[in-house]
Amino acid sequence: MATKTELLRFLRERNEYVSGQELCEFFQVSRTAIWKVMKQLKDEGYRIDSVQNKGYFLMECPDVLDFHEIESRLSTKWAGRELYYYKETTSTNIMIKEKAENGASHGALAVADKQTAGRGRRGRSWASPSGTNIAMSLLCRPQISPDKASMLTLLMGLAAAEAVIKITGLEAKIKWPNDIVVHGKKICGILTELTLEMDFIRYLVIGIGYNVNNGYNLTDVSQTFPEEIRDVAGSLFLESGKVVSRAELVAETLAIFEGLYDTFIREENLSFVLDRYNRILANMDTGVKVLDPQKPFTGTARGINAQGSLLVEKEDGQMEEVYSGEVSVRGLYGYV
Ligand code: BTN
Repeated sequence: MATKTELLRFLRERNEYVSGQELCEFFQVSRTAIWKVMKQLKDEGYRIDSVQNKGYFLMECPDVLDFHEIESRLSTKWAGRELYYYKETTSTNIMIKEKAENGASHGALAVADKQTAGRGRRGRSWASPSGTNIAMSLLCRPQISPDKASMLTLLMGLAAAEAVIKITGLEAKIKWPNDIVVHGKKICGILTELTLEMDFIRYLVIGIGYNVNNGYNLTDVSQTFPEEIRDVAGSLFLESGKVVSRAELVAETLAIFEGLYDTFIREENLSFVLDRYNRILANMDTGVKVLDPQKPFTGTARGINAQGSLLVEKEDGQMEEVYSGEVSVRGLYGYV
């Protein structure tokens, strides 16, 4: 039996009419079996044109975020290959940690359409309403020292920004250390959680929350986000005017991250991505306030170094290295 995943991948890759005969031969199933899967897909909102003597053509994929839609788009070797999908869950970080405790492998991924107890950084909550957002958490089992783990968060930030640029064409930027912004609005946040044993990493969970199609279907888009975050939050739909496929964004983020991760594990520093990262760093050459509880200060950001620290030039010309695990920064005149 051809699964929905296989059929979707096949039709998407061919991007032309494919005859029922060819599908039957390829999947070694009957015409009725193919017809049944096509019907299921159409019922789920996929637009599949079927023309006698020509076959089937996948015209439009709805913004479906489910197991098959994600799996059929994956091009990775390990990232997301053990996949858990939840229509609704508390928090994908919690779910993937549970899986990790039960032996899930490196690269296991939890994705949810909706979270009821999503967590943000600094103990804040993170909203992921259904039908519009992506909540995803990737399990990594790196053999590196714990003080290097924050560099993986930076790499996920880079992967997220590049995935957004590739799919939407928007000018996504990284607000160091791990927010992605478009036109100054936050469209993605990352929360990494480490589980240590003595002084080595048992596993690490990188949780990514994207605001994707928030605002679509609302007559008053100014009501898209709750008042507390309205000034700062944005969505890819609001910034581009186009509905974005969440499954495509999940798959693209993983594809880019996997490449970065594999190189990082060999090199254990960020030299190989410095230019790539600094080119899209929203804070580059801008005034920043460094919110260090011990000694807050202001200066001009000059990019990250190979350890992932932000270099901040103080007024007296002295360069400070701000370590990403400890503090965050704000723009002098606002969030970025
Ligand atoms: C931030 O505060 O900017 C980080 C937000 C991280 C949210 C994501 S959504 C998927 C994963 N599950 C969670 O509960 N949090 C992260």
